[in-house]
Parts: sequence; structure tokens; C-alpha cells
Amino acid sequence: MISSFYKKIVGTSSTVESNQQKILCVGLTCLDIVQTCKQYPAEDSDQRSVDCRWQRGGNASNTCTVLSQLGSSCEFFGTLSAEEHLSFLQNDMQNYNIDYSHCPMIENIGCPTSTVILSLRSGSRTILHHNPNLPELTLKNFEQLHLEDYSWIHFEGRNLTEVLSMMQCVENYNNMLNYSQDTNNKETKSSQASITISVELERPRQELLDLLPYVDVAFISKDFAQSRGYDSMSETLKNISEDAKSGATLICAWADRGAMARTPDNIIVQSPAFPPQKVVDTLGAGDTFNAAVIHFLNKAKLEFIRRRKLKSCEMNSALQKDVEIKRNIKMNYNIESSECSHTEFITQNVLQAAVSFACQVAGAKVGLRGYNKLD
Ligand code: ADP
Ligand code: FRU
Repeated sequence: MISSFYKKIVGTSSTVESNQQKILCVGLTCLDIVQTCKQYPAEDSDQRSVDCRWQRGGNASNTCTVLSQLGSSCEFFGTLSAEEHLSFLQNDMQNYNIDYSHCPMIENIGCPTSTVILSLRSGSRTILHHNPNLPELTLKNFEQLHLEDYSWIHFEGRNLTEVLSMMQCVENYNNMLNYSQDTNNKETKSSQASITISVELERPRQELLDLLPYVDVAFISKDFAQSRGYDSMSETLKNISEDAKSGATLICAWADRGAMARTPDNIIVQSPAFPPQKVVDTLGAGDTFNAAVIHFLNKAKLEFIRRRKLKSCEMNSALQKDVEIKRNIKMNYNIESSECSHTEFITQNVLQAAVSFACQVAGAKVGLRGYNKLD
């Protein structure tokens, strides 16, 4: 059954425009073997599950699945093991219209695999992950990309040294764009905006905080927060702010407590969770939440840039015609400024709407098996 819940929430067609800049998600894809049980099994017991399926998994890969369904043009970038599960992962990405054309192929090392137990009684998802040391992406791999193809690059917080260099590479590219625009270099496309960099801190590895000075938007998961000893979203945001660069947006999702975020101007916004009638599958809830925030904010960014251009061309009348954008993103931008800083488009209203939207999408997802399309 192809449910239309994402479309209902977004309220628009999820058709992807082929010429738009993409959202790139950098990280892991793996095979998830998912067993649904009435309740979490006792150790050394022998019991039947109620459902079993294979699914493409991995945070960046799941985030692409949801981004694509919401209508964002996206690309997955991570290493792929060239062994027996390759075609399963590739076919699934094709089904979801996810570009994976730049992924390096690794010979003779198996695919990372997770065995996942979903408990219908508690709603928990227990993940047992195995990675047979599939090499991570390198800076060299990243340098093969054409950065002008992307409006947003989202990194999984892993592989610290290389990811840090990749972020620096994007930062250099952004500085170069801004410099060219400042000096009115005619050879640079004047329409090109800086790439927004986001990161997800999920694994309980404290050194991942070193990534924060490079990112515009940071997702701090409850697992990471708890590993630092924080018990709440507000405590997390307050403490993490110290490591973030000024003007960064920080976002913290916390299961059935919903999510909280801090704007670049240090204003806190919050959304409750939107629980479904029955929680059936919380695997990838965080990845879904991240995708929905990125989708929303990237749309807001594109709209911000579009309005700025319209203003400068004195074509304001065209604004009246754009019913879809007006209905979905009610923004109140100051479009007097001719400069677009990295996060100027993230106002309090926009962030509030993004977080609330993402809680609705993630809430709907946990009421569904998988990510909707293949069910
Ligand atoms: P992760 O998959 O990283 O553990 P979380 O469990 O923190 O992610 O969930 C991310 C988001 O998904 C939450 O902010 C919430 O909006 C939604 N969500 C997760 N679990 C539930 C639930 N039981 N009921 C409603 N929404 C949920
Ligand atoms: C969910 C997930 C699974 C995967 C695991 C890897 O967030 O990406 O799909 O098996 O986490 O840690």
C-alpha cells in the first residue's frame, strides 16, 4: 500500500524538480534486518516474531528516503560494499529516486548490517549493528563532487577527521562564493548561494563536538545528549551552545517529548510530539525528523533567495502567483538586505514551523511500518 501521509502533511505534490540544487547526505547506508515482536524477547528464549523484513538503513540513507518522499531532490554519499547486498541497496535507492552516483565502491569487504528488534508493547527499537570495517569516505572522494550542485550538505557525525576536512572544503567554497559576489566578479553565477552545512551528533562520542564550529545547523540527538549527562532538551541546547559557532541553529529531538531548537539569535522554539494511534516502528524516527527539518528549512532558504531576487528585479507581482509556497511557508522576511548570510533565512517563525512540521512527519512515521513507499 502506498500511503499518502507525507503528502498530506506537506500539502503539496512531492514531484522533484530535476534542475534544482540537491541536498547531499553524507554518511552510512547498511542493510537492516527488522523483526517486529509483540514484546522484547527474553535472553535465550525461542519465540516467533510477527513480521520480518529487509530494509535499506543507515542514518544518511534513511534521511534521503524521507527527503525524497517530501519532494526534495537529494543524493546519498557514502561508501558501498560491492558484495551480494549491493543491488538490494541500489535498487531501493532507485525506487526512492535517490542519486547515489558518486558513491565509491569497495571490493572484498562486506556490507554493514543491523539486526533490529521492534517491540510493539513498548515501541522500542533495539539495534545490533555490525560493520566489518567498510572504509569510510575520504576527503579525496569528497573532492570529486561538484559543490555547485548542492544547496545543503548534511553530515552524519562520524569519521571525525575526514568529515572535518570535508566541512572545511565546503567552508572554503562558500568563502570563495561570497568573495566573488563582494567583488562583483561577473564570471561567478550571481544567483549561487552559500551551501548550508548541517550535522547530526548521535553517536555517544564526545570528540564529535569538534565539528560544531563548522556547521550552520546541528541536530543533537537524545542519545548524544544523554551520553553527556543531560536530561532534557533545554539543558542540552544550553550546554551545546558553548561549542557551536555564533549564528548556528541547534535542534534537539527527544522521542515522545517532541523537539526544541535555538535560532541563530538565541531564541528557543519548541514542539510537542504528535503520537500516532499506535506506535509500530520507531526505527529511523530521528533520521525522519532530521529530513523533515532540512526539507523545510531548505525550502525556506530557496524562497528567501527567490524573494530577494524578485525584489532586486522589481518583479514583486510574480509573488502573488506562487500559491504553493505562500500556503506552506508563511514567512515574514526582511528582504531589504542584499546579502544572504548562511542562516539569515532561519527566523524564529521559520524554525518554529520547521520543528513542528518535523515532529508531525516523524510522529506519522512511527505509526507506520518502514518508510511508506515499499509497504
Ligand atoms: P532517534 O531515532 O534518534 O532515537 P527520537 O526517538 O528522539 O529519534 O525521535 C525523533 C522524533 O521522532 C521526535 O522528536 C518525535 O517527533 C518523533 N517520535 C519519536 N518517537 C515518538 C513517539 N513514540 N511518539 C511520537 N513521536 C515520536
Ligand atoms: C536508524 C539507523 C538504522 C541503522 C542504524 C545504524 O537510525 O540508521 O537504519 O541500522 O541506525 O546505526
